[in-house]
Amino acid sequence: MPSSPSSSARWSALIDRSARVAPMSTLFDDDPDRLAKHTLEAAGLVLDASKNRVDDALLAALFDLARASGVEARRAAMWAGDKINITEQRAVLHVALRAAPDALFPVDGRNVVPDVHAVLDHMAAFVGQVRDGAWTGHAGHAITDVIHIGIGGSDLGPRFACAALHAYRHERLTVRFVANVDAQAMDDALASLDAATTLFVIASKTFTTSETMMNAHTARAWSLAGGVPEAELHRHFVAVSTNEKAVTAFGIDVANMFGFWDWVGGRYSLWSAIGLPIALACGMERFRELLAGARAMDDHFASAPLESNLPVRLALMGIVNANLLGARSVCVAPYHQHLELLPAHLQQVEMESNGKSVDLDGEPVAQPTVPVIWGQPGTNAQHAYFQCLHQGTEWAPIDFVAVIDPAHRHLEHHRALLANCFAQSEALMRGKTTDAARAELLEAGRSDADADRLAPHKTFAGNRPSNTIVLQRLDPASLGALVALYEHKVMVQGAIWNVDSFDQWGVELGKVLAKTIVDELEHGAAGSHDASTTALIDRARAIRTVDPA
Ligand code: F6P
Repeated sequence: MPSSPSSSARWSALIDRSARVAPMSTLFDDDPDRLAKHTLEAAGLVLDASKNRVDDALLAALFDLARASGVEARRAAMWAGDKINITEQRAVLHVALRAAPDALFPVDGRNVVPDVHAVLDHMAAFVGQVRDGAWTGHAGHAITDVIHIGIGGSDLGPRFACAALHAYRHERLTVRFVANVDAQAMDDALASLDAATTLFVIASKTFTTSETMMNAHTARAWSLAGGVPEAELHRHFVAVSTNEKAVTAFGIDVANMFGFWDWVGGRYSLWSAIGLPIALACGMERFRELLAGARAMDDHFASAPLESNLPVRLALMGIVNANLLGARSVCVAPYHQHLELLPAHLQQVEMESNGKSVDLDGEPVAQPTVPVIWGQPGTNAQHAYFQCLHQGTEWAPIDFVAVIDPAHRHLEHHRALLANCFAQSEALMRGKTTDAARAELLEAGRSDADADRLAPHKTFAGNRPSNTIVLQRLDPASLGALVALYEHKVMVQGAIWNVDSFDQWGVELGKVLAKTIVDELEHGAAGSHDASTTALIDRARAIRTVDPA
């Protein structure tokens, strides 16, 4: 396979083939087996990919593409602990974080699984003590509030999982998250908390990220001001990091540090000790179930043939939409309130991983890589932007996520929720012709003139693609499988686009420039900026606190 997939004859053939695919409604009418061919099940999840603009011939060509792109080889290299993050020379082994104790995942010839389980055991002991009240604050009271301080991958994964598993939360413990360097986030989280019963988890792979460190120092000052003696801070601060030296320098005892490793990428780290707040909120058993759910998806991804492999199919449908049909974004629409943060988590997993414009050789890619990911829960989304998805000139494929069994007793609500979810994908696929719209208007008693005038406005192009992922219920295991599904989708697409999915150099430049500007906000712009940036700095130089009263 050449480094740029789109320069191959195979790619041109795919584009030709895609242009000849019949409308989806015709594909359904013509093939009674279509649903079965495009429905896959694994790890308790069902993927209905039948509402995509793909016929048998295109699907076969897509599997050829995946094989020719070396998807299987890259998967094997990942599992073998090879340094597939080539720009940072790192193994990529988040799968080892959810491996069974007897599994073997070598990094530089050393099996990392025993280390993983040692940290899980450390977490279990700590989590058990905090949850049952044996771990107390300086005044001897049980912890009631946990504030997790981290950002990016050290925040989004556990924040999303805690929200998703809200139904499993501990009745005494409240877990909150602070990521933003905007102190409004910290002020809001700390409002009305008692320092004597508050525990901070400082989560940073590097323990140098400026936002996290600034927030950590503010939390420390708040605890001291709230009456925690300096010598007792160790009861109120624990760390999750790979950087023992920096954790110690901050003043956290290594006994209260939960480690992980450089082969865990930030956006893939919720399975490591970065998931500590999930375990605190839901219990260690639930956390282990989350890992087991992800492991079930890992086992499927590693062993199922490409044709029946869920992550591979999801990835290939993404390739069709982004590369063959030209979609510039993907909408994620979870029909479950507790999955509200799924789009945010997937934004980081997909966009930070595959938001790349050079290939593994540093050459510019010749086709688009990851589209923009966005979305919010249905049914809210329907009343905001679905208009555009149905009738706009800008279209986006949609990933619907539906959960069959709710954790509440309002079944009439739940039927309405699911009905909306299923109706949206059907409407997007079927559309409505102008003739049908006109006939409906006439039937409703409108005049011929009115029907002519209004019919174009009530016409839906249809043939707009979507995936529907179905979970039987939203529990730790199904959540683990869902997140792992998307993680592996990213790996497959990265292999096809021939990019390094596991580095993130793009966030560096802004960080460097911010360091200069922060000084200039105090002392004035140094003059090395463009006129716009200089003016913005000058405008913000006289910062002062506004009293909202
Ligand atoms: O934003 C870039 C990034 O490096 C993410 O990839 C990472 O998850 C986040 O910053 C936080 O990094 P750390 O865990 O080292 O604080």
